[in-house]
Amino acid sequence: MLTKPPIPGERMLAGTDLRLPRLAFGLWRFVGRDVSGADRLLRTALDAGLTLIDGAAVYGLDWGGASFGENEQLLGQVLKADPGLRARMILATKFGITPGIPYDSSCACVIKSCEDSLRRLQTDVIDLFQVHRPDVLTHPADLAETLSTLRKAGKIRAAGVSNYSARQTLNLQQFLDFDLATHQPEFSALCLSPVHDGVLDQCLSRAMVPLAWSPLGGGKLALTLHEAHEADPSGRLAKVISALDHTAHEMNTTRVSVALSFVMAHPAHPIPIIGTQNSARIIEACRAVSIQLSRAQWYKIASAGGMDLP
Ligand SMILES: NC(=O)c1ccc[n+]([C@@H]2O[C@H](COP(=O)([O-])OP(=O)(O)OC[C@H]3O[C@@H](n4cnc5c(N)ncnc54)[C@H](OP(=O)(O)O)[C@@H]3O)[C@@H](O)[C@H]2O)c1
Repeated sequence: MLTKPPIPGERMLAGTDLRLPRLAFGLWRFVGRDVSGADRLLRTALDAGLTLIDGAAVYGLDWGGASFGENEQLLGQVLKADPGLRARMILATKFGITPGIPYDSSCACVIKSCEDSLRRLQTDVIDLFQVHRPDVLTHPADLAETLSTLRKAGKIRAAGVSNYSARQTLNLQQFLDFDLATHQPEFSALCLSPVHDGVLDQCLSRAMVPLAWSPLGGGKLALTLHEAHEADPSGRLAKVISALDHTAHEMNTTRVSVALSFVMAHPAHPIPIIGTQNSARIIEACRAVSIQLSRAQWYKIASAGGMDLP
């Protein structure tokens, strides 16, 4: 019989002694900064309690970055300048996207990616090593063996998946000799698919922790109503924003807090990965932790986002 896992804030990263925070800090847009600016931003996130730091080998190519791994390199420089910072975080990164190929989770590629990430991050262990996207040409047994080898060698502490279906996750898990710790789907009031496609159900039944990417729809949920109508002429985005604003007004809080608490309300207790690179907004995001939406409020927002409620 399954037992209910500990409440959020008390959960550990599976197989480790690392306590998971309620909110994570994402590095997708962590580019174009000098080391001292990057250091300040990272400290703001850590001080605010966003102690899971979510990066990827491929981050740095988007948002004006110049080269593959640039993002990990920047974080590595920050960590080198103050080695004490490393112990304050759960360091998560991802492998498996190689521009031009595009997906490669073969043994040689994953081992090399791990070594490269360790070198760029200037650390000797990755706390959470995630498959960025499924490589359907790699047999899950081979990927499981590679991950297990890396874990036994002490290069990674835990592993997770991102953009995996529930079935793909189960296939990988069946060949693994340790439990996958995390699932990382896109999840927000604008992207409700994990509620229906089995991913959040799998998190419940396997005690995997969901990490929700783009919890503000990549910034779309922060637009004005006018901008929303222009960005999405179908009216759906504006409908979601109006529902969030209505609830924010009822609760005397901000739209962003409501949008994040919407994500956190699912019983699998997803951890939103906060993507802003603005210190004040990182701190503002923390307000979401103390908000609890009523059922009626949650379903109203979900319905605006397109959830069918027969
Ligand atoms: N696994 C995957 O395939 C995958 C894909 C995408 C992302 N991710 C992960 O998810 C993380 C978050 O994604 P995301 O950056 O798209 O997250 P998001 O929180 O949905 O969007 C962040 C964007 O919204 C903007 N924004 C505007 N107003 C804001 C406000 N009031 N508060 C907060 N943000 C505001 C931010 O701009 P400012 O910076 O100017 O505030 C930023 O550009 C990434 O860093 C990455 O770790 C994973």
